[in-house]
Amino acid sequence: MNLHGWIIYNGNLPGDKFLDFAQWIHEAASRKNSKTVIYQNNELLSLLDASKLDILGHSTAPLPDYAVFADKDIYLARQLELLGIRVFNSSAAIERSDDKIASYQQLASQHIPMPKTIVSPKIFSTGTIGEEITRHAVEELGFPLIIKEAYGSFGEQVYLITNETELYQKANELAGTAFMFQEFISSSYGRDLRLHVVGNRVAAAMKRQSKNDFRANITAGGTMEPYQPTDYEVELAVSAAACIGADIAGVDLLFGPDGSPLVCEINSNAHIRNLYECTGINVAENIIDYILEKLSQQEGGTR
Ligand SMILES: Nc1ncnc2c1ncn2[C@@H]1O[C@H](COP(=O)(O)OP(=O)(O)O)[C@@H](O)[C@H]1O
Ligand SMILES: [Mg+2]
Repeated sequence: MNLHGWIIYNGNLPGDKFLDFAQWIHEAASRKNSKTVIYQNNELLSLLDASKLDILGHSTAPLPDYAVFADKDIYLARQLELLGIRVFNSSAAIERSDDKIASYQQLASQHIPMPKTIVSPKIFSTGTIGEEITRHAVEELGFPLIIKEAYGSFGEQVYLITNETELYQKANELAGTAFMFQEFISSSYGRDLRLHVVGNRVAAAMKRQSKNDFRANITAGGTMEPYQPTDYEVELAVSAAACIGADIAGVDLLFGPDGSPLVCEINSNAHIRNLYECTGINVAENIIDYILEKLSQQEGGTR
């Protein structure tokens, strides 16, 4: 039986990287004889009622066998799951990835190497982060340290803090939002690795480097080169993705002081275009192969 899929992306975000991803997945699926339809998340509405759950807005009936979810609309992802559709990544994985505090808690609880982190307590925006809190951060982490918002991307919500004044100012500017204090891994200044995990493999990897910023994000001015990860780096990235329940993830690794890798981030909605431009590997092919394989195993198992 040919499996039918939906590809869902965020239609509200600027730039074409999201549509790009959707189209590449669509083409990869069609090469494997799996018919897919691309939707923007805001075209599909979740209907809830005591007698039924449904999705409004789709023109293609019946509901698909699977969905590739290139968006962070967790409610929609969960609605699809409640309707019995296998969603890649699952709503739970997207949720844990999107919230960096949740990711780090998961990593720490699985003893996966990561930078030391202190979660700022939840307060209302009218409250203040007192000196007793920032003092703990300085005692545990020293200067410079990182302040990182729980929700953020492209390095835009990651701040390098070099002294008490900056620390107090930034912490209080962010009061009311979820953020953390984090050890600054100076041996990784402006450099990191991006390993794209699909299932229990790394499909492609690159090294990113910035000449003028502590962040290595390409959007923050970083450059990229193809990278051949070590067995240990592969193992670390695969376990990091697994620990948040992600089938597919762009895992960022930092270079620890002795060169050994630390997990910086697990991105459940990683872009694949930069990786393709850098390595020539179209991860969309790996993703579709993985999904079709996974679903055929399930089919086989239930028969
Ligand atoms: N603790 C840290 N020590 C050193 N560099 C870091 C640290 N955390 C983040 N960075 C740098 O900042 C970049 C962005 O941080 P990341 O947590 O991946 O957030 P984003 O989701 O915005 O990419 C990383 O790729 C890395 O180069
Ligand atoms: Mg990142």
